[in-house]
Amino acid sequence: MTFAPSDRAARRLVITGGAGFIGSNFVRHWCDRYPTDRVVVLDALTYAGNRATLADLEAGDRLRFVQGDIGDRALVDQLLRDEQIDTIAHFAAESHVDRSILGPAAFVQTNVVGTFTLLEAFRHHWQAAEGDRDRYRFLHVSTDEVYGSLRETDPAFTETTPYAPNSPYSASKAGSDHLVRAYFHTYGMPVLTTNCSNNYGPYHFPEKLIPLMCINILLGKPLPVYGDGQNVRDWLYVRDHCTAIETVIHRGQPGETYNVGGNNEVRNLDLVKLLCGLMDELALQYGVTLPQSPSESLITFVADRPGHDRRYAIDASKIKRELGWEPSVTVEEGLRQTVAWYLQNEAWWKPLLSPAYQDYYSQVYGT
Ligand code: NAD
Ligand code: DAU
Repeated sequence: MTFAPSDRAARRLVITGGAGFIGSNFVRHWCDRYPTDRVVVLDALTYAGNRATLADLEAGDRLRFVQGDIGDRALVDQLLRDEQIDTIAHFAAESHVDRSILGPAAFVQTNVVGTFTLLEAFRHHWQAAEGDRDRYRFLHVSTDEVYGSLRETDPAFTETTPYAPNSPYSASKAGSDHLVRAYFHTYGMPVLTTNCSNNYGPYHFPEKLIPLMCINILLGKPLPVYGDGQNVRDWLYVRDHCTAIETVIHRGQPGETYNVGGNNEVRNLDLVKLLCGLMDELALQYGVTLPQSPSESLITFVADRPGHDRRYAIDASKIKRELGWEPSVTVEEGLRQTVAWYLQNEAWWKPLLSPAYQDYYSQVYGT
């Protein structure tokens, strides 16, 4: 469900992590939907942040970009005050499980301490606000990984599933979720949390499964599948996640959490084979010669991720029942669009394969 601009008063938003994968898709979505809203992007431009992704919007004066850390209290205070912000959409995080295994400290710093700093800044700003405090919202973007791992026959995660995070990444996200919850119960702050499953789509950093496989096929490199490839993830097209967050900002009940998912559980190996088939087909269509075909011949089983969660599945019935949101893109259609995007946007992804990225790659996959 989306909202016609006439249904609502204009908002003044800070979008943290707006130069990352989901954040940049959300910035694009919001600017399209609500051209008269004030949009300020706050992003530290870590390895995962890419200002070039927003270049057209910046050139068109659709947003103000501020390079900075969510943990910089003075900067956040000033931004909230100067821009008279009423809404925070909080995407900024360290987001990759494999990196959290290699170096967890940054995850605690940004995901826990950074979110705490943002909450404190918004609390003071909200408490000091004159006039219409009812419209203020703090939307915290979280993950289904906080619920832990499911067995094959377990029911999907609901909003009341106990937290059982297994990686430093998911533990740090769980910590931030608890802080967000506490700010509602203690201060009555108008916070909302979404716990979403795996996203995919344009502008996805190369380290994650789907872009990594697309790019490696295009480069003729091995496709590293962890363990037996039978781990299951639920996949949601990123633009559907954006409409879910839009819906929760407008219609969500402060203090509530909403699970968001695609109803698309797929085993990793099946997903990789699907991507190979799509890449073989679409490369022909776009006149691209793949270095090796069929692409499936590149699939290579590699050592499993330590503590690898077996299965995630989301029960998204609450957001459908209470707010009327459901996904609109099937996994077949979304993957087709995504593969086509990576085929056509080498200029976006190639510069990201930097020496620093190659170092990271060797640490995870060997040389
Ligand atoms: P991403 O890694 O692509 O982007 C993160 C962005 O945050 C980058 O632009 C980075 O520069 C910025 N950032 C990192 N640390 C920062 C800091 N201290 N201050 C300011 N900016 C900082 O991440 P993503 O995949 O777009 O995920 C966005 C959010 O959604 C995260 O909170 C993640 O936990 C959550 N989430 C992701 C998925 C998924 O499938 N990718 C699914 C569910 C939830
Ligand atoms: O569930 C939501 C989460 O989805 C988000 O909170 C995270 O930010 C996001 O990174 C994602 O986490 P995953 O660990 O599920 O995503 P990733 O793309 O890293 O891996 C997806 C699956 O594919 C997982 O079972 C591990 C496997 N995998 C991944 C890579 C990178 C491989 O088999 N080979 C690989 O090279």
